[in-house]
Amino acid sequence: MRRFDYNLLILAGTLLCLLRPSTSLKIGETCSRNSNNCDSGLRCLTCPASDNTRPRCSRIQPLSPTSKVNGLPFNRYTWLTTHNSFAVSGTKSPSGGPVLGPANQEDSVTSQLQNGVRGLMLDVYDFNNDIWLCHSFGGQCYNITAYQPAINALREIEKFLKANPSEIITIFIEDYVSSQNGLTKVFTASGLNKYMFPVSRMPKNGEDWPTITDMVKQNQRLIVFTSKSAKEASEGIAYEWRYIVENQYGNEGKVPGSCPSRSESSPMNTTSRSLVLQNYFSTNPNVTGACIDNAASLISMMNTCHLAAGNRWPNYIAVDFYQRSDGGGAPEAVDVANGHSTCGCLNIAYCGVNGTCNTPVLSPPPPAQLSAGGSSGPSNDGFSVHSVVQLRWFMGIVLLTWILILF
Ligand SMILES: *[C@@H]1O[C@H](CO)[C@@H](O)[C@H](O)[C@H]1NC(C)=O
Ligand SMILES: *[C@@H]1O[C@H](CO)[C@@H](O)[C@H](O)[C@H]1NC(C)=O
Ligand SMILES: *[C@@H]1O[C@H](CO)[C@@H](O)[C@H](O)[C@H]1NC(C)=O
Ligand SMILES: *[C@@H]1O[C@H](CO)[C@@H](O)[C@H](O)[C@H]1NC(C)=O
Repeated sequence: MRRFDYNLLILAGTLLCLLRPSTSLKIGETCSRNSNNCDSGLRCLTCPASDNTRPRCSRIQPLSPTSKVNGLPFNRYTWLTTHNSFAVSGTKSPSGGPVLGPANQEDSVTSQLQNGVRGLMLDVYDFNNDIWLCHSFGGQCYNITAYQPAINALREIEKFLKANPSEIITIFIEDYVSSQNGLTKVFTASGLNKYMFPVSRMPKNGEDWPTITDMVKQNQRLIVFTSKSAKEASEGIAYEWRYIVENQYGNEGKVPGSCPSRSESSPMNTTSRSLVLQNYFSTNPNVTGACIDNAASLISMMNTCHLAAGNRWPNYIAVDFYQRSDGGGAPEAVDVANGHSTCGCLNIAYCGVNGTCNTPVLSPPPPAQLSAGGSSGPSNDGFSVHSVVQLRWFMGIVLLTWILILF
């Protein structure tokens, strides 16, 4: 009888040992890419392009800056922004096949919003007697380059704003719509027009924006910019480069040490534009290379652009494959910018009371590379966690066995 109990205990202990590490892994821990056994808000990633082959739990969500420092003017915050938010891998074109050309993101607009993305870049076209999100050339959308009717994505945004009454979203429209009031119609049909922040309240000479608190209270929680200047007068949709400076996108915008403005934008240091947007992505979307872009070089460019913009941190950080990183990624860059501009600390996570910073003493991170011998040695962070758990179970079993033997 006692012998049976003993075996049962060993079995139960072993089972629990095996089960426990398969859930709830923390940031930096070794994970399984097949089962993505990381905590929520994390994704199991490697970055083979920079020889980081150990699958580890990596952040895909920035901290909510307003949860730390609330009530500042809108232009004191930084928001994670997805370049071509609608160009999601695996999307079928209207003709049934894959959409021609590479994707820029991997999850839906809803999923992006749930992960803390607050800036969305949408390419909008007249197509099929409707307004579509499309990735095209020559200002013309085709079956094989069309992603989806714009109203689908706009409804996702509407649903999110309704369910999250203190969140603010910005849409950047690369505008190819020439049908009469085409944008106005689709925004109205989606129910988004009631959230629109009015152009008349947008600062035109470098002043602060209204506070987050005010925008939430007035329910003016959707900022929309178009790339077509005439639509500000005709449809009341803000012309982007009257309000924002923006650096060069694509490979030209990734040259270390320089942060030129894109051709449509005023120079980065034009302080009569209250908002700053930083693009940082390759000319050709590259899902395997994105983890290199969304890492140290992104933060380094953020520092370069901060100087170029007259000591202003970006309000929007726009990237491809926002979840991909080699470490903290784009969410980390957003947290760093928010720390600097909301409380003067190195990261929004460190903002303390009365202007103090709770900067942690950092221990060195575990190596990112798998050691040659696989799981051997202390280089494998997950292994050491499992060992502790196994040791604990072993001690427990020994103790219980003694109790059984003694009584
Ligand atoms: C585009 O796709 C639609 C729906 O499948 C089809 O009816 C139409 O003929 C296609 N147009 C062209 C030009 O291929
Ligand atoms: C702004 O930047 C330009 C270069 O783009 C430079 O020539 C100019 O002096 C700068 N202006 C100010 C006020 O710093
Ligand atoms: C994508 O990035 C990887 C890693 O930097 C690089 O080796 C590869 O050539 C890139 N692919 C394209 C199509 O640019
Ligand atoms: C913060 O400042 C206020 C006003 O000066 C003071 O009353 C309060 O005690 C300070 N809090 C801390 C934690 O230092």
